[in-house]
Amino acid sequence: ESNILTDALGRKHNYLRISLTEKCNLRCTYCMPSEGVPLAPRKHLMDANEIYEIAKVFAANGVDKIRLTGGEPLVRKDFSDIIKRLSTLNVKLAVTTNGILVDRFIEDFKTCGLNNINVSLDTLNEDKFNHITRRNQFTKVYNNIHLLIANGFKVKLNIVLIKGFNDNEIINFIKMTKDLPISIRFIEFMPFDGNNWNKEKLVTQSEILDQTTNHFGANQLIKLENEQNFTSRDYKISGHKGEFGIISSVSNPFCDGCNRIRLTANGKIKNCLFSNNETDVLTALRNQEPIESVIAKAIYKKLPVRGGMDSFESLNNPKYHSNNRSMITIGG
Ligand code: GTP
Ligand code: 5AD
Ligand code: SF4
Repeated sequence: ESNILTDALGRKHNYLRISLTEKCNLRCTYCMPSEGVPLAPRKHLMDANEIYEIAKVFAANGVDKIRLTGGEPLVRKDFSDIIKRLSTLNVKLAVTTNGILVDRFIEDFKTCGLNNINVSLDTLNEDKFNHITRRNQFTKVYNNIHLLIANGFKVKLNIVLIKGFNDNEIINFIKMTKDLPISIRFIEFMPFDGNNWNKEKLVTQSEILDQTTNHFGANQLIKLENEQNFTSRDYKISGHKGEFGIISSVSNPFCDGCNRIRLTANGKIKNCLFSNNETDVLTALRNQEPIESVIAKAIYKKLPVRGGMDSFESLNNPKYHSNNRSMITIGG
């Protein structure tokens, strides 16, 4: 049956992604412009209590998974408080992080039952890491990924592929899955404001699969069943402990099964990663208005595919990207 989290196409939204901050301790080129983004005044951002109050309404209406994003979620001073409060809701908690600060939160993650941790790592080469992130934190991130694995967390690595930069590392990344029980996901580079996307930089799903079969042999490549409401189409190499997936939002979108809704750090509901249509739920909360109807309206009008960028031509049109936010203020 439909409820406030069902859109006009009948898609049910049980997965909320909350961006906790617009700040980050890295400066990845695909995520933000070199000059950074203007920082929102603190009072425009949700505080820990407001995050909890909004999340509570989503949970009461059927959200059963909340992923925390950013910016970099772990730079929030009150990160521990936030996850402790959210862990009292009946939801599965997850976080997407750049990995730099995870060693400080191992115990908090365990206390809160936060077991699903996705970490960005675009290259296994330190110089390239410093280049793409504009900071020098490779060793820290690499060690923290191993720390998470050693502590039994369910770890996924996110690799944004950029032609000529890291497409020669696809095989090396897959080799990591031989002995490590992780899932690595190759992500097609997506266009957002300020990230200089162009189609020449794209490495598509079909190229990734070609490289993989050429190297490992078609008979070693096993197609896995997709997760429900998947972003990644998943595979493994026969005999490997871990698996790999491809997130092909550009060449092969998965919007039919979309169950995701986003809440930005400044309290706006964004009904699609690519939609510039935002609904201010924070102001409604602060005015003590019921927020259910605000949420319902935001979700109902969600467009079928990529917030309206339904063709490759529209994706390729910078007009659309500059109407949307920079990725750093969306959270992926
Ligand atoms: P799971 O919760 O483990 O399924 O992870 P996830 O893939 O949803 O989340 P993550 O934050 O690790 O994001 C990995 C990549 O998927 C990033 O590039 C995100 O921008 C992208 N992504 C996440 N959700 C969506 C979505 O709803 N639509 C699209 N097009 N891309 C998404
Ligand atoms: N295209 C594709 N994925 C991106 N991410 C950030 N910016 C982009 C982009 N332009 C991914 C990162 C991060 C996740 C939340 O979003 O891999 O892990
Ligand atoms: Fe959902 Fe928009 Fe992502 Fe498509 S592009 S899967 S509609 S969030």
